[in-house]
Amino acid sequence: MSDDLTGTAPWRSFLTETEQRLSGSSDVEDPRLEARWLMEEVVGVDGADFMAALGQLATTRGVARLDSMVERRLGGEPIQYVLGHWAFRRLDLMVDRRVLIPRPETEVVVDYALIELDRLHPEGGGVVADLGTGSGAIGLSIATERPGARAVLTDVSEDALAVARANLAGLGMAGSHVEVFGGRWFDALPTEMSGQIDVIVSNPPYVATTEDLPASVLDWEPEGALRAGPDGRNDLDQLVAGAELWLRPGGALVLEMAPTQTTVVAELARARDFEVAVHEDLAGRERLIVARCKG
Ligand SMILES: C[S@@+](CC[C@H](N)C(=O)[O-])C[C@H]1O[C@@H](n2cnc3c(N)ncnc32)[C@H](O)[C@@H]1O
Repeated sequence: MSDDLTGTAPWRSFLTETEQRLSGSSDVEDPRLEARWLMEEVVGVDGADFMAALGQLATTRGVARLDSMVERRLGGEPIQYVLGHWAFRRLDLMVDRRVLIPRPETEVVVDYALIELDRLHPEGGGVVADLGTGSGAIGLSIATERPGARAVLTDVSEDALAVARANLAGLGMAGSHVEVFGGRWFDALPTEMSGQIDVIVSNPPYVATTEDLPASVLDWEPEGALRAGPDGRNDLDQLVAGAELWLRPGGALVLEMAPTQTTVVAELARARDFEVAVHEDLAGRERLIVARCKG
């Protein structure tokens, strides 16, 4: 397709039009903000450069791309998938329908995983496993923020692993201590890591089969990243049961879950002789446990 100019219309006029079109959808909470994100994507610049670019003439190809993105958004597709990338901590991760959209509550999970890693390796280094990595959000954040650590990322979904690998490639040198493995939970890990891992961190599927989810989640995000049996605990229970074999003495399991699950999962971990603390997300809801292996 040619990159001809549309004629006399500057990008600014498409910003207004895009905002108006998005205003017609009940899925779009902030049409102005989303219009800006879509336009930044199409124009290829952001911040002050974006404001300057608004005065330039729009291109035919850019306008066609914008129109296709707006149509997708009006069809209910989450803005993150339409944009094709999303911010998570310091990273700008590629995301599409093969992976869960990384959530703000998971950023807090990374904080607690880093606290455990720093406790065990105050000078840097150590080994972290991010099980069920999806886009790579947790494991790649840890690899970037603690470049001396070895990070192992796993997932049972080959689709998800392809996205995680693409995001790993985007890290360049910061990804040189990252490895990616396919398989179910602990089965994916190389056997020689048994008893050697400092921190196992996971945001597993934890939605009960019967729980209602908004269409924006149910219709678009991968079911295998969400549902986990009648009470949503199938995967959480497996992770608690298997962690001790893979953690070094004093190592920690850091698990995200639903606020309704923290009490029972914490009890399960205590019954396995872990020292357990429950922590909240940024909205003040109990969201994760840190379970330390005694030793
Ligand atoms: C809730 S998503 C979390 C993705 C990512 N860690 C994040 O926080 O954005 C759960 C992930 O676990 C993966 N998963 C589901 N069942 C699994 C299993 N049995 N073994 C390993 N990974 C699994 C899914 O494919 C999905 O990528």
